[in-house]
Amino acid sequence: EAASKGGFDHFMMKEIYDQPQAIHDTLMRRLDEDGMIHLDDIKLTKEDLDGITKMYIVACGTAYHAGLVGKYAIEKLAKVPVEVDIASEFRYSDPFIDEHTMLIVVSQSGETADTLAAMKLAKAKGARVLAITNVVGSSVAREAHDVFYTWAGPEIAVASTKAYTAQMIAFYMIALDFAYKKGTITLEAYHETIKKIEALAPLVQEILADKDEIEKIAMDMKDAQNAFYLGRGVDYTTAREAALKLKEISYIYTEAFAAGELKHGPIALIDQGTPVLCIVTQEALEEKMISNIKEVKARGAFVIAITRKGNTEVAKVADDVIYIPGADDLLMPVLSVIPTQLISYYVSIARGNDVDKPRNLAKSVTVE
Ligand code: G6P
Repeated sequence: EAASKGGFDHFMMKEIYDQPQAIHDTLMRRLDEDGMIHLDDIKLTKEDLDGITKMYIVACGTAYHAGLVGKYAIEKLAKVPVEVDIASEFRYSDPFIDEHTMLIVVSQSGETADTLAAMKLAKAKGARVLAITNVVGSSVAREAHDVFYTWAGPEIAVASTKAYTAQMIAFYMIALDFAYKKGTITLEAYHETIKKIEALAPLVQEILADKDEIEKIAMDMKDAQNAFYLGRGVDYTTAREAALKLKEISYIYTEAFAAGELKHGPIALIDQGTPVLCIVTQEALEEKMISNIKEVKARGAFVIAITRKGNTEVAKVADDVIYIPGADDLLMPVLSVIPTQLISYYVSIARGNDVDKPRNLAKSVTVE
């Protein structure tokens, strides 16, 4: 077991460190020498794609959060309306599905019962079903019409890390491929975006090199009873994934809120010393996030912010700042999630928890 941890103390840390490779493999194994994407297990033609008027993305847990990022990517690049739902809810919501509907399911294991059931339901109603999964030949892969395999390698820790980043890469690539086939992106923008995705792996590496600094900041949260995570736009998605990660391995009661909703309730929960982690990577939303930071600070919150290098404004209001490299707004979730994974890991260890096997949780939930 020690050998399979690759010299790390826990699988989770090993898998956090596997991420540059997982990103690289998921992308590069699909690029030809002209830099064009080839998705061999996805057989959708331009005609098929033109006939799709609506997409659903359905998943559970962390995979659902990747789906939320997927919605941004597909709507922005491929110009199709997308709804994202939790598999266990989707099934019972009588979703409107016909032959113009595409369902994308996301599942690391490919064995989650609710996700599998959701895809069977959609298939029966005539939807085209695409699966994003990490396990070759898994149940969702076998059930789907089309498959995208994330090349993250086996993920052992219950808390998902590298599967999540690889799932986001999968969505960027699917969105780009669909956009190119549909003609909603120029060839120039297509290649430029691929280059930017390629650049993410070394940027993740750069963030990992700051792990000691991040560990120190994590210690400011280790004794908390509860914590709040805030963001806007795709940063809200990262906040949701980050909050899930902290709660599942530290057992600190953690909730994520859309920062704009603060005033409509959550701000009542902020007390002296409550840790509030704010993700501030979207340029157009920065000013609004800064006023949210001021609002929670005024109620006694202890604010940890994650923002792009060079952002001097956030440091003026936050207690701790974690700087990460910048990328396109749409790609920032791949970078901003990394420090939050490290924070969850360090807090869990500091509280004496079993980080790889948190209480009450399973790696794959095969009952409905
Ligand atoms: C469990 C795991 C999570 C995972 C979720 C969905 O709850 O603990 O880490 O995100 O299932 O699993 P899947 O294999 O479908 O991605």
